[in-house]
This record gives sequence, C-alpha cells and structure tokens, in this order.
Amino acid sequence: MKILGIEHIGLAVDSLDTDAPFWKHVLKISHKGTEAVEDQGVTTDIYDTGRGKVELLEALGENTAVGKFLKNRGPGIHHVCFEVDDINNAINELKESNIRVLSDNPTTGAEGYKVVFIHPKSTGGVLVELAEKP
Ligand code: CO
Repeated sequence: MKILGIEHIGLAVDSLDTDAPFWKHVLKISHKGTEAVEDQGVTTDIYDTGRGKVELLEALGENTAVGKFLKNRGPGIHHVCFEVDDINNAINELKESNIRVLSDNPTTGAEGYKVVFIHPKSTGGVLVELAEKP
C-alpha cells in the first residue's frame, strides 16, 4: 500500500445552506461539486484548495452514520481521507495486519473514488478513509 497524500478532510455539518458559505465565500476555496452519496447516507459538498480538499457532509437522515455522529458529537471533523495507489491492495494489507476495515470491498464514494473506511479503534480514535482515484 502506498499513501499518496491527504485527499480531504471530512467535516460533518448540520446544514450545507448555513455552513457552506464560510468555505465558499469567506475562504473562497474553489467549489468542485455537490452530490448525494446514497451508500454513505450523505450529501457531499467538496472544495479543493489545490493541496487537499474539504468535504462537507450533510446527513441524508437521522439514521445515517453522519446523522448519528451529529446527534452524538455535534458538527466537526468526521474523518480524514488519504489517497492510495491501489485500494484493493490496501484492504488486503490492512486485513492481514488485523486492522478493522469497515467493508471487505471498496464502495464508490464522492467524485467516483473507490473508498473504504477504517474503524477509529484501529487508528487511535480517528475515522480514516482510504480512496483511490477513478
Ligand atoms: Co470522505
């Protein structure tokens, strides 16, 4: 597995309407797009600094992972995503090392990336996403 860099930081927000303008209009980070990722129960709203992105996450409902996160912990940093060269290879290596990967196969995330999440219990407390560029 080769880590190519930090791809994005995922931030759980209560409302894109209320919270996106800071990133869009105050920091003026280039907006890449907004899309629903049904598999993950979120609408993602992505900004690209040119050296790593910010992914705002609005829950599609209270019973989604981000919905529960917001209820339990409130808005804030939800996960950190690293780009990898080969996601399947990464999953195999992690499982061989007894790391708690949340799915056996990658799923399709925002922007068509192939992604997998690593449980915070295996990382020292942070939900980690690995992503391979489409
Ligand atoms: Co993400």
